[in-house]
Amino acid sequence: MNAHDHARSQASAYLEQLKDLIRIPSISTDPERKGDIRRAAEWLADDLRCIGFERVEIKPTAGHPVVYAEWLGAGEGAPTVLVYGHYDVQPAEIEAGWDSDPFEPVERDGFLYARGASDDKGQVFAHVKAAESLLAAGRPPVNLKLVIEGEEEIGSPHLSAFVGENQDLLKADVCVISDSGMPKINEPAIVYALRGLVYVELEVFGPARDLHSGQYGGTVHNPAQALAEIIAQLHKPDGSVAVPGFYDDVLPLSDEERAELAKKPWDEADWRRTTGAPMPWGEASYALHERVGARPTLEINGLVSGFYGPGQKTVLPAKALAKISCRLVANQNPTRIYELIRDYVARITPPTVRSEVRLLQTGEAAYVDRHTEAMQAAIRAYEQGWGSKPVFMREGGSIPIVADFQHKLNLPVILMGFGLNDDGAHGPNERFNIEMFHRGVQTAIYFYEAIAGR
Ligand code: BES
Ligand code: MN
Ligand code: MN
Repeated sequence: MNAHDHARSQASAYLEQLKDLIRIPSISTDPERKGDIRRAAEWLADDLRCIGFERVEIKPTAGHPVVYAEWLGAGEGAPTVLVYGHYDVQPAEIEAGWDSDPFEPVERDGFLYARGASDDKGQVFAHVKAAESLLAAGRPPVNLKLVIEGEEEIGSPHLSAFVGENQDLLKADVCVISDSGMPKINEPAIVYALRGLVYVELEVFGPARDLHSGQYGGTVHNPAQALAEIIAQLHKPDGSVAVPGFYDDVLPLSDEERAELAKKPWDEADWRRTTGAPMPWGEASYALHERVGARPTLEINGLVSGFYGPGQKTVLPAKALAKISCRLVANQNPTRIYELIRDYVARITPPTVRSEVRLLQTGEAAYVDRHTEAMQAAIRAYEQGWGSKPVFMREGGSIPIVADFQHKLNLPVILMGFGLNDDGAHGPNERFNIEMFHRGVQTAIYFYEAIAGR
């Protein structure tokens, strides 16, 4: 039996195993889930050992461990594929709108509902099962190295150092990552760009302590109001970001790229359906898909100030806080963007309050050359997996380590997402299309075969 037939014969077993992995609530941001993070790493390591990887290690980092596995039986003449993914997930509380327990996967209408089903357990597990099928069917045509980390959802704070310290171990010919998606199940799309990120906290301080709003209102500049005034100056009326210099390093979209991107298999009606928002907003001179994939943005992620319990409280708060992040595109430097925001906010902060902009996180954008041999192999794999030619698209999300794989390890990276845009990643009722899981296993096998020239 060849690997493809083997995978088909094992389809339901593979899905049941995925459910076991999903049942472990490996939430990286929650210190109380440290044991579950460890359990998920061990679960994966056990599975990888069991299916025939020769060397499987749970590698400690200063944070959550990295699962590393390799099979080098194809020999020195064969190419080596580095597979990256993450076993950690976002938090999920049933009260946030879940119709079922986020960590008890349920099958409904061809979807598997659970936290991590799509992001990223289901997607990375497709590669694990592709490897299993190849190993079961004989000798895989490529050497395989797997790096599955436990801190992606908190910005991979220790993976960069791990990659730097393990350059020899991670030596490969190509890196493949399945941690993104496509708009429509029957219209395959390959992602070739991810955005970078800079995350800051903007805090505004007013009076030394909370005050009675009757006694002091009208004499003290309310920090919540001052914060709103500052935030209102972060965008221009045309939807662009008002921070001076923000766009300086953004590379313009070529006509050729615009035409390529225009082939995307979704439109404004899809956008309305998935967002539920009344109408689009943003830079009018760019199409919706260009605003998401090819333009940088600045978003308010959260606002905290004053009283927000039930009922009322006449308080003049002492401070106000905004969580703000920018999605960046290739060639923008996250640290430089932080400095621009910091300096601009300092300049527009009125003298009646004090402000602070604190840097929480940076991550570089990634841009993949569409004209490499590795991309040819990916295109072939999608054609075989889907029976039709993929289009190219740029994604708005971030996978900060991709830039390190490209620049530190000098690897061509292929972003081979098996998610769908309406999987609900990070939200309630996250789901993974079960057909996408099985197609993912097949497409990963086709990709390894194509990389080996078969
Ligand atoms: N898998 C996503 C990234 C992604 C989302 C790629 C959508 C393509 C399309 C990843 O797990 C993620 O959520 N990344 C974070 C990174 C952040 C924590 C630094 C993100 O994009 O917010
Ligand atoms: Mn992910
Ligand atoms: Mn995620």
